[in-house]
Amino acid sequence: MTITGLEPLSIAVVGAGEWGKNHVRMFAQLKGSRLVTVCDLEESRLASVRAAYPGVRVTTRYEDVVRDPAVEGVVIASFAAQHYDQARRALEAGKHVLVEKPMTLAAEEAEELVHVATRAARCLMVGHLLLYHPAVVKMNQLVASEEIGELFYLYSQRLNLGQVRKDENALWSFGPHDVAVALYLFACEPEMVTAKGEAFLQKGIVDVVFVTLHFPQRKLAHIHLSWLDPHKIRRTTLVGSRKMVVFDDMEPNDKIRIYDKGVDIRRQPMSYEDYLHVRFGDILIPHIGSAEPLRLECQHFLDCSRNGATPRSDGVHGLQVVRVLAAAQKSLEMDGAPVPVKG
Ligand SMILES: NC(=O)c1ccc[n+]([C@@H]2O[C@H](COP(=O)([O-])OP(=O)(O)OC[C@H]3O[C@@H](n4cnc5c(N)ncnc54)[C@H](O)[C@@H]3O)[C@@H](O)[C@H]2O)c1
Repeated sequence: MTITGLEPLSIAVVGAGEWGKNHVRMFAQLKGSRLVTVCDLEESRLASVRAAYPGVRVTTRYEDVVRDPAVEGVVIASFAAQHYDQARRALEAGKHVLVEKPMTLAAEEAEELVHVATRAARCLMVGHLLLYHPAVVKMNQLVASEEIGELFYLYSQRLNLGQVRKDENALWSFGPHDVAVALYLFACEPEMVTAKGEAFLQKGIVDVVFVTLHFPQRKLAHIHLSWLDPHKIRRTTLVGSRKMVVFDDMEPNDKIRIYDKGVDIRRQPMSYEDYLHVRFGDILIPHIGSAEPLRLECQHFLDCSRNGATPRSDGVHGLQVVRVLAAAQKSLEMDGAPVPVKG
Protein backbone atom coordinates (compact mmCIF):
# COMPACT_ATOMS: atom_id res chain seq x y z
CA MET A 1 0.00 0.00 0.00
CA THR A 2 1.50 3.39 -0.89
CA ILE A 3 1.00 6.35 1.37
CA THR A 4 0.79 9.81 -0.08
CA GLY A 5 2.32 12.75 1.74
CA LEU A 6 -0.82 14.26 3.15
CA GLU A 7 -2.95 11.24 4.04
CA PRO A 8 -3.06 10.30 7.70
CA LEU A 9 -1.58 6.91 8.49
CA SER A 10 -4.10 4.37 9.82
CA ILE A 11 -2.77 3.03 13.11
CA ALA A 12 -3.52 0.05 15.33
CA VAL A 13 -2.16 -0.01 18.89
CA VAL A 14 -1.56 -3.46 20.38
CA GLY A 15 -1.40 -3.49 24.18
CA ALA A 16 -3.29 -0.68 25.88
CA GLY A 17 -1.74 -1.13 29.32
CA GLU A 18 0.07 1.37 31.52
CA TRP A 19 2.34 2.53 28.70
CA GLY A 20 0.32 1.56 25.63
CA LYS A 21 -2.53 3.84 26.68
CA ASN A 22 -0.17 6.77 26.07
CA HIS A 23 0.31 5.57 22.48
CA VAL A 24 -3.47 5.32 22.14
CA ARG A 25 -3.83 8.94 23.31
CA MET A 26 -1.04 10.18 21.07
CA PHE A 27 -2.09 8.43 17.86
CA ALA A 28 -5.68 9.59 18.47
CA GLN A 29 -4.42 13.20 18.69
CA LEU A 30 -1.69 13.56 16.09
CA LYS A 31 -2.73 15.17 12.84
CA GLY A 32 -0.92 12.73 10.55
CA SER A 33 -2.53 9.71 12.15
CA ARG A 34 -5.91 8.00 12.21
CA LEU A 35 -6.32 5.60 15.15
CA VAL A 36 -8.45 2.78 13.74
CA THR A 37 -7.96 -0.21 16.07
CA VAL A 38 -6.86 -0.99 19.61
CA CYS A 39 -6.10 -4.60 20.51
CA ASP A 40 -5.68 -5.92 24.06
CA LEU A 41 -6.29 -9.26 25.74
CA GLU A 42 -8.08 -7.60 28.65
CA GLU A 43 -11.69 -6.54 28.17
CA SER A 44 -11.38 -3.90 30.91
CA ARG A 45 -8.63 -2.11 28.97
CA LEU A 46 -10.76 -2.19 25.83
CA ALA A 47 -13.78 -0.86 27.70
CA SER A 48 -11.81 2.29 28.65
CA VAL A 49 -10.72 2.75 25.03
CA ARG A 50 -14.30 2.28 23.81
CA ALA A 51 -15.53 4.91 26.26
CA ALA A 52 -12.86 7.48 25.32
CA TYR A 53 -12.77 6.83 21.55
CA PRO A 54 -16.15 5.48 20.39
CA GLY A 55 -15.13 5.46 16.70
CA VAL A 56 -12.14 3.17 17.27
CA ARG A 57 -12.53 -0.55 16.71
CA VAL A 58 -11.45 -2.74 19.66
CA THR A 59 -10.48 -6.40 19.58
CA THR A 60 -8.80 -9.08 21.67
CA ARG A 61 -7.56 -10.93 18.55
CA TYR A 62 -4.22 -9.92 17.05
CA GLU A 63 -5.18 -11.57 13.73
CA ASP A 64 -7.82 -8.86 13.31
CA VAL A 65 -5.01 -6.29 13.23
CA VAL A 66 -2.64 -8.05 10.84
CA ARG A 67 -5.41 -9.17 8.48
CA ASP A 68 -7.04 -5.74 8.22
CA PRO A 69 -5.87 -4.09 4.97
CA ALA A 70 -6.97 -0.71 6.33
CA VAL A 71 -4.29 -0.84 9.05
CA GLU A 72 -1.03 0.70 7.75
CA GLY A 73 0.99 1.02 10.94
CA VAL A 74 1.07 -1.22 14.03
CA VAL A 75 2.28 0.09 17.39
CA ILE A 76 3.24 -2.77 19.72
CA ALA A 77 3.16 -2.10 23.47
CA SER A 78 2.34 -5.62 24.67
CA PHE A 79 4.51 -7.86 26.87
CA ALA A 80 8.18 -7.94 25.87
CA ALA A 81 8.09 -11.69 25.18
CA GLN A 82 5.53 -11.07 22.40
CA HIS A 83 7.30 -8.22 20.62
CA TYR A 84 9.23 -10.40 18.18
CA ASP A 85 6.30 -12.52 17.00
CA GLN A 86 3.87 -9.62 16.75
CA ALA A 87 6.34 -7.32 14.95
CA ARG A 88 7.30 -10.04 12.47
CA ARG A 89 3.69 -10.85 11.62
CA ALA A 90 2.83 -7.17 11.15
CA LEU A 91 5.85 -6.55 8.88
CA GLU A 92 5.08 -9.68 6.84
CA ALA A 93 1.56 -8.36 6.40
CA GLY A 94 3.03 -5.14 4.93
CA LYS A 95 2.52 -2.86 7.95
CA HIS A 96 4.95 -0.29 9.31
CA VAL A 97 5.90 -1.15 12.90
CA LEU A 98 6.74 0.84 16.01
CA VAL A 99 7.69 -1.70 18.67
CA GLU A 100 8.22 -0.82 22.30
CA LYS A 101 11.46 -1.53 24.10
CA PRO A 102 12.91 -4.06 24.54
CA MET A 103 12.61 -4.69 20.81
CA THR A 104 13.03 -8.45 21.39
CA LEU A 105 14.50 -10.69 24.08
CA ALA A 106 17.21 -12.21 21.84
CA ALA A 107 19.64 -10.66 19.38
CA GLU A 108 18.81 -13.31 16.73
CA GLU A 109 15.16 -12.25 16.86
CA ALA A 110 16.04 -8.56 16.49
CA GLU A 111 18.29 -9.42 13.53
CA GLU A 112 15.46 -11.36 11.93
CA LEU A 113 13.09 -8.39 12.31
CA VAL A 114 15.62 -6.11 10.58
CA HIS A 115 15.76 -8.54 7.63
CA VAL A 116 11.98 -8.90 7.43
CA ALA A 117 11.51 -5.10 7.47
CA THR A 118 14.12 -4.67 4.73
CA ARG A 119 12.51 -7.39 2.57
CA ALA A 120 9.06 -5.88 3.09
CA ALA A 121 10.38 -2.31 2.58
CA ARG A 122 8.51 -1.19 5.67
CA CYS A 123 9.49 1.14 8.50
CA LEU A 124 10.71 -0.62 11.65
CA MET A 125 11.20 1.67 14.62
CA VAL A 126 11.86 0.93 18.31
CA GLY A 127 10.34 2.97 21.16
CA HIS A 128 13.62 4.25 22.58
CA LEU A 129 11.86 7.28 23.96
CA LEU A 130 14.93 9.10 25.27
CA LEU A 131 16.33 9.52 21.75
CA TYR A 132 13.42 11.91 21.17
CA HIS A 133 13.88 13.78 24.46
CA PRO A 134 14.96 17.37 23.69
CA ALA A 135 17.63 17.11 26.42
CA VAL A 136 19.19 14.03 24.84
CA VAL A 137 19.05 15.65 21.40
CA LYS A 138 20.85 18.64 22.94
CA MET A 139 23.49 16.40 24.51
CA ASN A 140 24.03 14.75 21.14
CA GLN A 141 24.57 18.18 19.55
CA LEU A 142 27.08 19.06 22.27
CA VAL A 143 29.00 15.83 21.63
CA ALA A 144 28.77 15.84 17.81
CA SER A 145 29.84 19.50 17.56
CA GLU A 146 32.71 18.75 19.99
CA GLU A 147 31.60 21.65 22.18
CA ILE A 148 32.40 19.47 25.19
CA GLY A 149 35.58 18.29 23.49
CA GLU A 150 36.13 14.57 23.25
CA LEU A 151 33.53 12.52 25.15
CA PHE A 152 35.64 10.47 27.59
CA TYR A 153 32.95 8.67 29.57
CA LEU A 154 29.38 8.88 30.77
CA TYR A 155 27.37 7.41 33.61
CA SER A 156 23.62 7.04 34.07
CA GLN A 157 21.40 6.27 37.02
CA ARG A 158 17.80 5.07 36.65
CA LEU A 159 16.66 4.35 40.19
CA ASN A 160 13.31 4.14 41.91
CA LEU A 161 11.39 2.32 44.59
CA GLY A 162 8.61 0.24 43.09
CA GLN A 163 7.53 -0.86 39.60
CA VAL A 164 8.87 -4.31 40.51
CA ARG A 165 8.22 -6.52 37.47
CA LYS A 166 7.68 -10.27 37.40
CA ASP A 167 8.18 -10.83 33.67
CA GLU A 168 11.51 -8.99 33.23
CA ASN A 169 14.44 -7.96 35.42
CA ALA A 170 15.71 -4.41 36.08
CA LEU A 171 18.28 -4.77 33.27
CA TRP A 172 15.71 -5.47 30.53
CA SER A 173 13.06 -3.19 32.02
CA PHE A 174 15.14 0.00 32.51
CA GLY A 175 18.36 -0.78 30.62
CA PRO A 176 17.14 -0.22 27.04
CA HIS A 177 16.77 3.53 27.73
CA ASP A 178 20.31 4.16 28.96
CA VAL A 179 21.98 1.72 26.60
CA ALA A 180 20.18 3.42 23.68
CA VAL A 181 21.43 6.83 24.86
CA ALA A 182 25.03 5.60 25.31
CA LEU A 183 25.09 4.10 21.80
CA TYR A 184 23.57 7.27 20.37
CA LEU A 185 26.06 9.60 22.06
CA PHE A 186 29.16 7.51 21.36
CA ALA A 187 27.80 6.80 17.85
CA CYS A 188 29.20 3.28 17.94
CA GLU A 189 28.72 -0.08 19.60
CA PRO A 190 30.68 -1.18 22.68
CA GLU A 191 33.16 -4.01 22.26
CA MET A 192 32.69 -5.53 25.69
CA VAL A 193 30.13 -5.47 28.50
CA THR A 194 30.42 -6.31 32.19
CA ALA A 195 27.47 -6.47 34.58
CA LYS A 196 27.00 -7.26 38.26
CA GLY A 197 23.64 -7.41 39.98
CA GLU A 198 21.52 -9.15 42.58
CA ALA A 199 17.98 -10.51 43.00
CA PHE A 200 16.80 -9.64 46.51
CA LEU A 201 13.02 -9.62 46.16
CA GLN A 202 12.17 -12.43 43.75
CA LYS A 203 14.29 -15.47 42.99
CA GLY A 204 16.14 -15.09 39.71
CA ILE A 205 14.82 -11.59 38.89
CA VAL A 206 17.61 -9.09 39.35
CA ASP A 207 16.52 -5.89 41.18
CA VAL A 208 19.74 -3.90 40.94
CA VAL A 209 22.36 -3.92 38.18
CA PHE A 210 25.64 -2.12 37.57
CA VAL A 211 26.54 -2.38 33.89
CA THR A 212 29.69 -1.11 32.19
CA LEU A 213 29.94 -0.69 28.43
CA HIS A 214 33.50 -0.68 27.10
CA PHE A 215 33.67 1.29 23.84
CA PRO A 216 36.59 1.51 21.40
CA GLN A 217 39.46 3.84 22.42
CA ARG A 218 38.87 3.09 26.12
CA LYS A 219 35.64 5.12 26.26
CA LEU A 220 33.24 4.02 29.01
CA ALA A 221 29.55 4.12 29.91
CA HIS A 222 28.50 3.00 33.37
CA ILE A 223 24.81 2.38 34.04
CA HIS A 224 23.20 1.83 37.45
CA LEU A 225 19.64 0.44 37.30
CA SER A 226 17.40 -0.42 40.23
CA TRP A 227 13.79 -0.56 41.38
CA LEU A 228 14.98 -1.08 44.96
CA ASP A 229 16.44 2.26 45.92
CA PRO A 230 15.39 5.09 48.27
CA HIS A 231 15.94 7.73 45.56
CA LYS A 232 14.05 8.46 42.40
CA ILE A 233 16.87 9.39 40.06
CA ARG A 234 17.03 9.65 36.29
CA ARG A 235 20.31 11.29 35.56
CA THR A 236 23.07 11.10 32.96
CA THR A 237 26.48 12.75 33.34
CA LEU A 238 28.84 13.28 30.42
CA VAL A 239 32.51 14.00 30.96
CA GLY A 240 34.26 15.54 27.98
CA SER A 241 37.81 16.78 27.54
CA ARG A 242 36.63 20.42 27.66
CA LYS A 243 33.23 20.46 29.35
CA MET A 244 30.90 18.29 31.40
CA VAL A 245 27.13 17.94 31.10
CA VAL A 246 24.46 16.74 33.51
CA PHE A 247 20.97 15.78 32.30
CA ASP A 248 18.56 15.45 35.22
CA ASP A 249 15.16 14.30 34.03
CA MET A 250 13.64 14.77 37.51
CA GLU A 251 14.23 18.54 37.25
CA PRO A 252 10.99 20.13 36.05
CA ASN A 253 12.67 22.91 34.04
CA ASP A 254 16.46 23.10 34.03
CA LYS A 255 17.07 19.59 32.77
CA ILE A 256 20.54 20.24 31.36
CA ARG A 257 23.55 21.95 32.91
CA ILE A 258 26.76 22.45 30.99
CA TYR A 259 29.78 22.82 33.26
CA ASP A 260 32.72 24.64 31.74
CA LYS A 261 34.99 22.54 33.91
CA GLY A 262 37.85 20.30 32.99
CA VAL A 263 41.50 19.51 33.25
CA ASP A 264 43.67 21.09 30.53
CA ILE A 265 46.89 19.42 29.52
CA ARG A 266 49.48 22.13 28.89
CA ARG A 267 51.86 21.44 26.06
CA GLN A 268 54.80 23.41 27.51
CA PRO A 269 54.34 23.37 31.28
CA MET A 270 56.48 25.59 33.49
CA SER A 271 56.47 22.89 36.17
CA TYR A 272 54.94 19.47 36.83
CA GLU A 273 52.09 21.13 38.81
CA ASP A 274 51.41 23.29 35.78
CA TYR A 275 51.14 20.27 33.43
CA LEU A 276 47.54 19.42 34.38
CA HIS A 277 45.58 22.62 34.89
CA VAL A 278 42.18 22.29 36.57
CA ARG A 279 39.65 24.76 35.18
CA PHE A 280 36.47 25.81 37.04
CA GLY A 281 34.36 27.89 34.67
CA ASP A 282 30.71 28.91 34.43
CA ILE A 283 27.63 26.73 34.46
CA LEU A 284 25.25 27.21 31.54
CA ILE A 285 21.61 26.09 31.52
CA PRO A 286 20.55 25.97 27.87
CA HIS A 287 16.93 26.36 26.80
CA ILE A 288 15.79 23.04 25.37
CA GLY A 289 12.03 23.52 24.97
CA SER A 290 9.30 21.47 26.60
CA ALA A 291 8.05 19.27 23.76
CA GLU A 292 6.73 15.92 24.97
CA PRO A 293 9.21 13.17 23.95
CA LEU A 294 6.43 10.66 23.18
CA ARG A 295 4.73 13.13 20.84
CA LEU A 296 8.04 13.67 19.01
CA GLU A 297 8.65 9.91 18.84
CA CYS A 298 5.18 9.12 17.46
CA GLN A 299 5.39 11.99 14.95
CA HIS A 300 8.78 10.68 13.80
CA PHE A 301 7.23 7.23 13.23
CA LEU A 302 4.43 8.74 11.12
CA ASP A 303 6.90 10.84 9.10
CA CYS A 304 9.35 7.99 8.48
CA SER A 305 6.53 5.60 7.51
CA ARG A 306 5.19 8.16 5.06
CA ASN A 307 8.41 9.29 3.42
CA GLY A 308 10.59 6.20 3.74
CA ALA A 309 13.25 7.90 5.89
CA THR A 310 15.27 5.84 8.36
CA PRO A 311 14.11 6.44 11.94
CA ARG A 312 16.61 7.62 14.54
CA SER A 313 15.78 4.49 16.58
CA ASP A 314 15.48 2.13 13.61
CA GLY A 315 15.62 -1.66 13.72
CA VAL A 316 19.41 -1.68 13.46
CA HIS A 317 19.70 0.58 16.50
CA GLY A 318 17.21 -1.67 18.31
CA LEU A 319 19.30 -4.70 17.39
CA GLN A 320 22.47 -3.04 18.74
CA VAL A 321 20.70 -2.28 22.04
CA VAL A 322 19.43 -5.88 22.35
CA ARG A 323 22.96 -7.19 21.63
CA VAL A 324 24.31 -5.12 24.53
CA LEU A 325 21.50 -6.23 26.87
CA ALA A 326 22.04 -9.87 25.93
CA ALA A 327 25.78 -9.54 26.59
CA ALA A 328 25.05 -7.83 29.93
CA GLN A 329 22.65 -10.63 30.88
CA LYS A 330 25.34 -13.19 30.08
CA SER A 331 27.88 -11.25 32.16
CA LEU A 332 25.39 -11.10 35.06
CA GLU A 333 25.05 -14.86 34.90
CA MET A 334 28.86 -15.20 34.89
CA ASP A 335 29.25 -13.01 37.99
CA GLY A 336 30.50 -9.97 36.11
CA ALA A 337 32.88 -11.61 33.64
CA PRO A 338 33.53 -9.50 30.51
CA VAL A 339 31.38 -10.56 27.53
CA PRO A 340 32.11 -9.46 23.96
CA VAL A 341 29.09 -7.78 22.37
CA LYS A 342 29.47 -9.42 18.98
CA GLY A 343 30.76 -12.72 20.31
N1 LIG B 1 9.23 3.60 26.16
C1 LIG B 1 8.97 3.74 27.43
O1 LIG B 1 9.32 4.72 28.06
C2 LIG B 1 8.20 2.64 28.13
C3 LIG B 1 7.68 2.88 29.41
C4 LIG B 1 6.97 1.85 30.02
C5 LIG B 1 6.82 0.62 29.38
N2 LIG B 1 7.36 0.45 28.14
C6 LIG B 1 7.23 -0.86 27.45
O2 LIG B 1 5.91 -0.99 26.95
C7 LIG B 1 5.50 -2.36 27.01
C8 LIG B 1 4.21 -2.47 27.83
O3 LIG B 1 4.48 -2.05 29.15
P1 LIG B 1 3.28 -1.68 30.15
O4 LIG B 1 3.92 -1.07 31.34
O5 LIG B 1 2.23 -0.93 29.42
O6 LIG B 1 2.75 -3.15 30.52
P2 LIG B 1 1.27 -3.55 30.95
O7 LIG B 1 1.37 -4.92 31.53
O8 LIG B 1 0.65 -2.46 31.77
O9 LIG B 1 0.48 -3.60 29.58
C9 LIG B 1 0.66 -4.57 28.60
C10 LIG B 1 -0.68 -4.77 27.90
O10 LIG B 1 -0.47 -5.62 26.77
C11 LIG B 1 -1.57 -6.47 26.67
N3 LIG B 1 -1.20 -7.65 25.90
C12 LIG B 1 -0.30 -8.60 26.23
N4 LIG B 1 -0.23 -9.52 25.27
C13 LIG B 1 -1.09 -9.16 24.29
C14 LIG B 1 -1.49 -9.73 23.06
N5 LIG B 1 -0.98 -10.87 22.61
N6 LIG B 1 -2.41 -9.08 22.32
C15 LIG B 1 -2.94 -7.92 22.77
N7 LIG B 1 -2.63 -7.36 23.94
C16 LIG B 1 -1.70 -7.96 24.70
C17 LIG B 1 -1.92 -6.81 28.12
O11 LIG B 1 -3.25 -7.28 28.24
C18 LIG B 1 -1.71 -5.47 28.81
O12 LIG B 1 -2.90 -4.69 28.85
C19 LIG B 1 6.68 -3.13 27.61
O13 LIG B 1 7.45 -3.66 26.59
C20 LIG B 1 7.44 -2.07 28.37
O14 LIG B 1 8.81 -2.36 28.50
C21 LIG B 1 8.02 1.42 27.50
